[in-house]
Amino acid sequence: MFRRTVAPGIEIKLFDTSEAKPLFAVVDRNRPRLRHWLPWVDQTRSPEDIRLFILRCLDQYHANLGPQTGVWVNGALGGSVGCHPIDWSNRNCSIGYWIDSSHEGKGVITRCCAVLLDYLFDELGLHRVEIRCGTGNSRSCAIPERLGFRREGLARGAEWVNDRWVDLISWGLLEEEWRHSRQRRP
Ligand SMILES: CC(C)(COP(=O)(O)OP(=O)(O)OC[C@H]1O[C@@H](n2cnc3c(N)ncnc32)[C@H](O)[C@@H]1OP(=O)(O)O)[C@@H](O)C(=O)NCCC(=O)NCCS
Repeated sequence: MFRRTVAPGIEIKLFDTSEAKPLFAVVDRNRPRLRHWLPWVDQTRSPEDIRLFILRCLDQYHANLGPQTGVWVNGALGGSVGCHPIDWSNRNCSIGYWIDSSHEGKGVITRCCAVLLDYLFDELGLHRVEIRCGTGNSRSCAIPERLGFRREGLARGAEWVNDRWVDLISWGLLEEEWRHSRQRRP
């Protein structure tokens, strides 16, 4: 089972179907801010919708296509970081994330992504990881920027989010760049 300690009191853990209710509660109380950037929020109306999502995450993980994890802060579920299915022919994937408003601004997601990147590059041997953020989503863009990703381009009208087309900025990080930036970290 995929589980990593990120920092004291913070861990990431593969989702389990027993977590459908608490995960739905976090999504539900953050609905207005999440739905602005994440296309799946409006379709997520019950713990059963979340349970089906978790089953798909487990299938993905067991097919060796990468983990989708819960972010746990002091023993409570508070968000998510995870991979979209890995493209093994090209050894790459993209990652995504969101966090409960009460944990925002504390570096939780940046640190969880760093641990996930260590796993993807060191243990799975990926060559490239991508993050795609909506233009105007400055908090989201700050994460790849902080982690040393390079801004590579803009995909115009690439995602339908509720009621509008969103342009996506793509950020890319190669294995050698991650190793290099890690060596320079204090
Ligand atoms: C995008 C999102 C996950 C970013 O959350 P966040 O809390 O800003 O990101 P982090 O957890 O990395 O925290 C970064 C902040 O913590 C600070 N911080 C504190 N300790 C830190 C540490 N050890 N490491 C890094 N940053 C640290 C940073 O300086 C930064 O502060 P700032 O907000 O004043 O600039 C969040 O805004 C969210 O859930 N948004 C809605 C959903 C969404 O848009 N998802 C992404 C779709 S592409």
